[in-house]
Amino acid sequence: MRNRSCRRFDAAHPLDEEILKGLIGVARLVSSAANLQPLRYVLSCAPVQNERIHSTLTWAGTIPGWPGLPPEERPTGYIVVLTDKGLKESADIDVGIAAQTILLAATERGLGGCMLGSIQRARLRALLDLPESLAISLVIALGRPVDEVVLEDAAPGDSVRYWRDGNRVHHVPKRRLEDLIYRVYSTEAAGDS
Ligand SMILES: Cc1cc2nc3c(=O)[nH]c(=O)nc-3n(C[C@H](O)[C@H](O)[C@H](O)COP(=O)(O)O)c2cc1C
Repeated sequence: MRNRSCRRFDAAHPLDEEILKGLIGVARLVSSAANLQPLRYVLSCAPVQNERIHSTLTWAGTIPGWPGLPPEERPTGYIVVLTDKGLKESADIDVGIAAQTILLAATERGLGGCMLGSIQRARLRALLDLPESLAISLVIALGRPVDEVVLEDAAPGDSVRYWRDGNRVHHVPKRRLEDLIYRVYSTEAAGDS
């Protein structure tokens, strides 16, 4: 519940290399298809490099007119998740498992973050001087969270677009449990024989 996508950070709270390496230390141990472990990571907690990475990202793309993150609310660290194409051409499930694990570990450490898939990849590749053998899969922004996020139930037919109210509270509609479960085979179900 605490691990929500965060888009407002305390820019005065620096992260250091050890914190970022600790998160990769956790991601290192997660499941990986065929145990290939094709993911590689660029870590940044350097303000100038953070700004470069930030400039390649689209935040809250589904909120019309979103003004972007002001400098005092920007993340203080980034993890760029790369896939070594020599090991696996595409490893999106591995990426998802690693990214979620990193964010859960970050939350445990009092941090917050956001996965970003909307990336100007060619620009980021050039900024990071990455070889073509490494695909840019995802960016994870990190920092001390100051965003206020509330979850709401979305009934069938309701919009699931997230939105911000006048007090900058971020609202995230989630589909209801009963609408997600397609079928249940219960030992108590009548006629289940
Ligand atoms: C694969 C993936 C890519 C995402 N890309 C972006 C992105 O480019 N920009 C952004 O602001 N949020 C991005 N998000 C965050 C989603 O918007 C967020 O997960 C969703 O609104 C639900 O909020 P929650 O994570 O707090 O449950 C991404 C999330 C995922 C899983």
